[in-house]
Order: sequence, then structure tokens, then C-alpha cells
Amino acid sequence: MDFNTIKIQLGESIAWVNLDRPEVRNALNDLMIKELTEVFDWLNSRDDIRVIVLKGNGKAFCAGADLAYMKAMAGFSYNQNIADAENLSKLFQTIYFCSKAVIVDVHGACIGGANGIIAAADIVIAEKETKFAFTEVRLGLTPATISPFVVAKIGNTAAKELMLTGRRFTADEAKVFRLVNVVVSEADMIDTERQYIDHFLHASPDAITECKNLLRLASSTDDPYNPVFHQTSVLIANQRISKAGQEGMAAFFEKRKPSWE
Ligand code: COA
Repeated sequence: MDFNTIKIQLGESIAWVNLDRPEVRNALNDLMIKELTEVFDWLNSRDDIRVIVLKGNGKAFCAGADLAYMKAMAGFSYNQNIADAENLSKLFQTIYFCSKAVIVDVHGACIGGANGIIAAADIVIAEKETKFAFTEVRLGLTPATISPFVVAKIGNTAAKELMLTGRRFTADEAKVFRLVNVVVSEADMIDTERQYIDHFLHASPDAITECKNLLRLASSTDDPYNPVFHQTSVLIANQRISKAGQEGMAAFFEKRKPSWE
């Protein structure tokens, strides 16, 4: 398969997927959202793949949603805007409901929507200098489409602390908040990744799939038709064309404070 925004490498039983827009810190635009969803669907359908490892090329894992494309949504029709927001939600759902073991390696920065990806995954390995933040409220937005996955993973107390303040936090804090599994030095990333891969390859592939179903069931997050996915898509579709959202995103690109600060 040929992609513009991601790179894929297949090994025996393992697929490595790299986000590949390093010039914008792998911010998620419409094409990357589409390609990443497609590649997860495709890998999910392959019997020979048992583990998927996702990482980012360049200085950072992912700077969240591409704010240029989010801002441009104001020029689209309302229905296009909603359909597009549904695609963003669909990406997180596709990772969350994937039947393979999913590992994410993060480094540099893991901001906004990037936290939706890691919340939807199974294992997150963080390089110790990684900066985390849910910056949405500072941009006049809310962490809408990612919230079902993040709240399911870290709970309401941590979500309130991180999502309402929008503050930066370290990899060590991310571990305390249970957003990541393990914090390592850059030199130890590959070994740690390999250890998790080995654990997963010791398990029966069917048992991994069933165990993932079981864990979703046990935490009451097993309904792929849950209306929350649509509701959160509508929420972000409205916010990104709102006065506050447009102002917050303009301020980011103009490297200035937004009007409310
Ligand atoms: N959307 C679009 N462009 C983005 C982006 C995003 N989410 N994040 C970064 N970029 C662009 C910057 O505008 C910059 O472009 P330029 O070179 O044309 O000026 C380029 O990527 C590099 O960004 P820069 O801030 O210089 O890189 P950095 O390594 O110093 O910092 C981040 C990396 C991720 C910490 C920082 O870019 C950042 O905070 N980005 C915003 C993330 C965010 O709030 N996302 C939430 C979306 S809801």
C-alpha cells in the first residue's frame, strides 16, 4: 500500500507504522487521519500480523490535530465539517477496537489528539523527555473526540486535572496519571518495545483478541455504536468553527496570546 503521510514496515507477525509529517510534528490532517485509519483496518484484517507498533518520525511523536486544517473547516459546509469530525473519531475507534496488540512509542511531544491515539492503544512506551498536554481549552476547543478513550483510560480525576488546565506535564506524570505504561531513556526505547512484542508473541493471537474484547466488556467500553462517538464529533465540529476556536487557532499560528488571556 502506498501512503503519503505515514510509512509502514512489515516484519514477521509485526507491523511498524510511522507518522511521517515531521515538519509539522506529525500533526493529524485529514489525509493522515484517513491513511492511518486505512492502515489499521488493513492490518487488523491480516492473519499474519499480531502486533502493531506506532511511532512518529522526526522531533515529536505527534502534535495532535493539524490546526491549519481544523481552522480551515470554517470554510466548509456544516455537513462536511461533521463528516470530517466523524473521521477523526473513527480513527480513535479503529485503534481502540483493533483486535491486534497495539504498542505506541512516544517521544518529543504528545499533544491533544495524540493522547487520543495513546489512550486507544494497549501499551504506551514514553521517552522520558516527552512533553504531554491536552491544550484544547487554551485553543478555544475541547478534547472532544478523544475524551471517551482518555476518560476510560485515566478516569475523571486525572482527566479533569489535565483537560481543564491544559497544562504541560512530563512523561513521569503521564505514568502517574496512567496515560503511559512505562517511561524509558531514548537508548532503552527499542529494547522495551521488543520486550512487549515478545510478551505478545508468547500469547495466542486469538486469546489476545478475546482478552481485548474482555477488557472492553469489563470496563463497559465495548459498544462500537455508542452515541458518544457521534456526539463528541458534533461537539468538535461546532467548536472549531466557533469564534473562540477560530481565535485560539489563529493565535497559535500568529504566535500571540488569544484574546481571553
Ligand atoms: N497543527 C499544525 N501545525 C503545527 C502543529 C499543529 N498541531 N503543531 C506544530 N505545528 C507546526 C508549527 O506551526 C511549526 O510550523 P512552522 O515551522 O511553519 O512555524 C512547525 O509545526 C514546528 O512547530 P514548533 O512549535 O516550531 O516545533 P517545536 O518542536 O518547538 O514544538 C510542539 C513542538 C508540538 C510542542 C509545538 O509545535 C506545539 O505545541 N504545537 C501545538 C500542539 C497543539 O496544541 N495541538 C493541539 C491540537 S487540538
